[in-house]
Amino acid sequence: MLPGCLTLALPIIQAPMADVSTPALAAAVSESGGLDSLGIGAMTPEAARAAITETRRLTDKPFGVNVFCHRSVRPDTACMTRWLNWLKPEFERYDTLPPATLREIYPSFCDTMATCDMLAEEHPALVSFHFGLPDGAMIAVLRRVGIVLAATVTSRTEAIQATEAGVDLLIAQGYEAGGHRGIYDPHRQTISGSIPSRF
Ligand SMILES: Cc1cc2nc3c(=O)[nH]c(=O)nc-3n(C[C@H](O)[C@H](O)[C@H](O)COP(=O)(O)O)c2cc1C
Repeated sequence: MLPGCLTLALPIIQAPMADVSTPALAAAVSESGGLDSLGIGAMTPEAARAAITETRRLTDKPFGVNVFCHRSVRPDTACMTRWLNWLKPEFERYDTLPPATLREIYPSFCDTMATCDMLAEEHPALVSFHFGLPDGAMIAVLRRVGIVLAATVTSRTEAIQATEAGVDLLIAQGYEAGGHRGIYDPHRQTISGSIPSRF
């Protein structure tokens, strides 16, 4: 059940999609009586603030914002080289070359306070966490301004972690999830198997 401050005409929360969610989609869902989740996982704090401002221009209804809370990758040159060599035939199939190096394209919400502070100022109705949880200090900042907090969980252990962290809503996610299954620890053995050992 949704907290009272999130009373919706329709019991539908649109799944967040980084790089795909737009303010226009967010506003359309919220205007229709559901709750949108603007996926800002791939955005800088400035771009995310602009998307929130634009959504507010299009609707005065509540909407949610979704962030990525993964542990940032520590660059491992040998591992990157193995991935690039493994992928080389795929690039060759399309007459192109693999990139010289790999880089992380999604900044983690947990790495700086910048997005957290921006969200506390903008205070969307809901903030949802994906691929893990932020620390208690960040959760406290968001709670202090009355934001409802949600987290994706993919196992009982993660559900307990999120509940103990003070999250209000759990989003239970199976293995399908459009390639975006929000597991907290990618090296944990999962129902669909672990990461191949050669990587
Ligand atoms: C293109 C794409 C992008 C996604 N981006 C996010 C995201 O930014 N945050 C998130 O929590 N889930 C993300 N997901 C997962 C979806 O929110 C959702 O959990 C998944 O699509 C399963 O729901 P469905 O069965 O209704 O499609 C993404 C899914 C897709 C297909």
